[in-house]
Amino acid sequence: MSFAPGVIRDSIVSYLSNIDGPATTYEIVAAVQHHLGEVPASSVRSYLSLNTPRIFERTERGTYGLKENSRIPHTNSEFPIRRIDRAELFFGDCFEWMAQQKPQSIHAVVTDPPYGLVEYTEKETTKLRAGKGGVWRIPPSFDGHKRAPLPRFTTLNDADLVALRAFFVRFGNHVKRICVPGANIVVASNPLLSHIVADAMTQSGLELRGYIARQVMTMRGGDRPKNAHLEFDEVSVMPRSQWEPWVVLRAPLEGRVQDNLRKWGTGGFRRPSISKPFGDLIKSHPTPANEKKISPHPSLKPQGFMRQIVRGVLPLGEGIILDPFMGGGSTLAAANAIGYNSKGVERDAEYYELAHSAIPKLTALATRSEESNTEEDD
Ligand SMILES: C[S@@+](CC[C@H](N)C(=O)[O-])C[C@H]1O[C@@H](n2cnc3c(N)ncnc32)[C@H](O)[C@@H]1O
Repeated sequence: MSFAPGVIRDSIVSYLSNIDGPATTYEIVAAVQHHLGEVPASSVRSYLSLNTPRIFERTERGTYGLKENSRIPHTNSEFPIRRIDRAELFFGDCFEWMAQQKPQSIHAVVTDPPYGLVEYTEKETTKLRAGKGGVWRIPPSFDGHKRAPLPRFTTLNDADLVALRAFFVRFGNHVKRICVPGANIVVASNPLLSHIVADAMTQSGLELRGYIARQVMTMRGGDRPKNAHLEFDEVSVMPRSQWEPWVVLRAPLEGRVQDNLRKWGTGGFRRPSISKPFGDLIKSHPTPANEKKISPHPSLKPQGFMRQIVRGVLPLGEGIILDPFMGGGSTLAAANAIGYNSKGVERDAEYYELAHSAIPKLTALATRSEESNTEEDD
């Protein structure tokens, strides 16, 4: 297949702008092939070398980035802001917002990003609000109880996965720039996609520090084969998911842990009590009905869990926590409940309003006894 002059070059520029940072030749070839179809790897490589140093720069062996003047510029927008107690709520796109923040101005990130990349687009939220499905699976009501809609992650194809990876590399690049050294970054995920989040965000230079398992019975998996459930009644097609992985990353330290603790107030997790280490298995439960009533966002996380995570990510209880995908406001409500400073960004006007009205009420709730099931120190 032959392409008009400039098509392959423009595809490379668009991918590198999208991730806001450098990528290996291998990743660039994969992205261009997903965008344009069958393109020989050798053509992509020759476009890269032909246009270096005019458009691209070689950042290290086999890795290319865009020259500063070839980047698609960020807009300089004003973000409407509201304050509730110690929380600041910004209305707008978080990538544009992050691009405008000062380097090293955030001390931890706790967030639950969109995964299908399309489920929170205007088209899909309109379908969800009309009860019409789309990528949202609206489970049938059961025993008179309406069950919460779930996005269908299994509908992601290869091209979606490449886009998802690029999304998290771009996200990681922004986060790395605005976070102070040693900052904890904790990202909600699911067992089918957490490996992509971890891999993409480490490509941005963040360090993978493990996973926190939120132990919770979800409605995913466990079912018998579709249309053959009687014939194979002893089979579950995939495991019934009983936990939710939260990917734990860290902005690279500056010196030793103790130096970061002194200078930035980062570099570790705050213990639940002096004799209990912060653990990576947290017993949880689906978001309680009273919280969903206060904040009817389709992905609202429960306060009992959020308060444990939020409390833990600032080892000395000092600094600013960011949730760039604020949704119904559960992270900021948890931060207010604990007495931490926080910032949240949401681009959907309805959810932004929802977070604004819900945060004080979620903050005021007493949660079920917040015990994390970690062992005491010896
Ligand atoms: C999975 S939900 C977060 C729910 C949140 N954890 C809660 O408990 O309510 C993701 C949210 O990110 C928002 N969002 C998606 N892309 C965004 C972007 N680029 N900038 C800001 N918000 C975005 C969506 O509108 C959605 O409300």
